[in-house]
Amino acid sequence: MNVSEPRRVVCPGSFDPVTNGHLDIIGRASRLYDEVIVAVLVNESKHGLFTNAERMRMLSEVTSEFPNVRVDSFRGLLVDFCRDQGVRVVVRGLRAVTDFDYELKMAQMNFGLSGLETLFMPTNPLYSFLSSSLIKDVAKWGGDVSPHVPALVAERLEAKLAELRPRDGG
Ligand code: PNS
Repeated sequence: MNVSEPRRVVCPGSFDPVTNGHLDIIGRASRLYDEVIVAVLVNESKHGLFTNAERMRMLSEVTSEFPNVRVDSFRGLLVDFCRDQGVRVVVRGLRAVTDFDYELKMAQMNFGLSGLETLFMPTNPLYSFLSSSLIKDVAKWGGDVSPHVPALVAERLEAKLAELRPRDGG
């Protein structure tokens, strides 16, 4: 690698929606690398709560304090996106040993496909139980998710769920 090339890393994920756990990993990666690309997977076969554009907008807003972070999206293989972006490393947060099996397989597959390296970053224990699905489930049933997601995400979750809730009395 040319020494003058910026050191770039990709933080890939579904981010439906971004949680404080994701944000912690992105922020820590931004202190280790010159540039962080947060890459949102566009998965046509899996319908999420938020659209891709909504997820990207929330990510851009909550990462605006980090000048070296940008948000993008990708379809298909992560290795192809990384090659197109000139990136050789991805960062993934590991919350607990239960994440490890799946993450190790993905990392080994990606390395085999193109030599793409995966660095695992231990999640801050404050966030080790957090996942986007848990957040959506708690929010859906009226639980308070505000300690676990940025304020604007909590607001948009509430608005999205209200929009989807059937109205009484038709
Ligand atoms: O936030 P998630 O859902 O745990 O992120 C998973 C993600 C997006 C990193 C992973 O599913 C992915 O990279 N998908 C793209 C398709 C791909 O490259 N598959 C092969 C990886 S082994």
